[in-house]
Amino acid sequence: MPVRIAVIGAGVYGTHVLNVLSAAVRSGEADLVAVADIAPQTLERAVQRFQIRGYANYHEMLERESLDAVVVVTPDHLHRQAVLDAAAHRLHILCQKPIATRTEEGYEMIAAAQDAGVLLAVDFHKRYDPAHRELKRSIRQGRLGQILYGDVYMEDRIEVPAVWFKSWADRSSPAWFLGTHFYDLVSWLLEARPVRVFAHGNKRKLLSMGIDSYDHVSAAVVYDNGAVITFHASWILPDGFPSIVNQQIRLIGTEGIGEIDSQDRGFLSCFADQPGCQVSNPFAKSEPLIPDSRFDLPLSGYTCDSIRHFVQLAGHLKRGAVLADLAGSYPDGSEAMIATRTCEAIHDSLQAGRLIDIDPASWR
Ligand SMILES: NC(=O)c1ccc[n+]([C@@H]2O[C@H](COP(=O)([O-])OP(=O)(O)OC[C@H]3O[C@@H](n4cnc5c(N)ncnc54)[C@H](O)[C@@H]3O)[C@@H](O)[C@H]2O)c1
Repeated sequence: MPVRIAVIGAGVYGTHVLNVLSAAVRSGEADLVAVADIAPQTLERAVQRFQIRGYANYHEMLERESLDAVVVVTPDHLHRQAVLDAAAHRLHILCQKPIATRTEEGYEMIAAAQDAGVLLAVDFHKRYDPAHRELKRSIRQGRLGQILYGDVYMEDRIEVPAVWFKSWADRSSPAWFLGTHFYDLVSWLLEARPVRVFAHGNKRKLLSMGIDSYDHVSAAVVYDNGAVITFHASWILPDGFPSIVNQQIRLIGTEGIGEIDSQDRGFLSCFADQPGCQVSNPFAKSEPLIPDSRFDLPLSGYTCDSIRHFVQLAGHLKRGAVLADLAGSYPDGSEAMIATRTCEAIHDSLQAGRLIDIDPASWR
């Protein structure tokens, strides 16, 4: 009984989601039914490439198709309505991160999914990176002792805000687009929530290119277990940087240290048909050696595992499991709110130029 699934938003990341779902079709886990996108060329490209039905209006898709689940891959600030509408159709939902760029919107989305009794998962794929999972295991076993402090950075090449999604870069920020991955990851690793935030950012490079967005957002976050973690989220690395993303986390506790370079996984390449050297991360995505084969190892890596896991969870529900059975096994809406609230406090601090406290009693 494959999960009947559709995608809303077929841009850059929607294409990745469609690729992963196509692999799930080959393994018999999913039936990829349709895609919706408001941009005619984007829609047409997805329809041709994946040979599925396409809709310019996702409402029509939700009305007409018989679906079990949808993946919402619209821009950061446009997740809310699609999630509410999918919940109204009683569909399980995988929403791209961040769940919402406003706290109230996020809680509204969670309430809609709860009322409809559907699964609402958020695609925080960093939790699926085997190195991060190993670090979590070590922390749970107490091998780092009490976590005291740490540092994180996640940085994209400038083509991401300047070319990839230039049209909405000014309505997101490096904190919303990149930082949220690690605000979520750190809370998940530490099993702690933020209580105090101080942030500072600069607008120079992108502003000089006519894009009104922060170049970087740097923040110190204090957690309810006393740990303090600094985060640098930026998207202005020069074109010549050898990978599209640069990222690292290090955590230091009373009894140990964990350090993961999640960009340089040891694969440096240099080819005559491409200028410069590249550092690639096959842990994130690894293509099959025999394309479109049912028998080769499928498209894999942590950016695929998170999507595949959602399909598997929706499959369990289809076969009779209940939501409570799945609790704790995936990034759910409520957990996703930690990243949204961290990021919102970071932006409040950017604007106010001072410390922002998050009242522990305010979590729902
Ligand atoms: N998990 C990850 O690592 C990861 C990586 C990149 C992007 N993302 C997330 O994926 C989402 C999309 O990012 P992207 O880079 O693909 O952006 P994009 O701009 O390339 O694509 C967004 C698409 O949504 C479409 N769209 C907008 N409103 C729509 C609507 N009402 N109905 C249907 N389609 C609509 C647009 O036409 C566009 O094609 C963002 O939330 C982003 O943060 C996640």
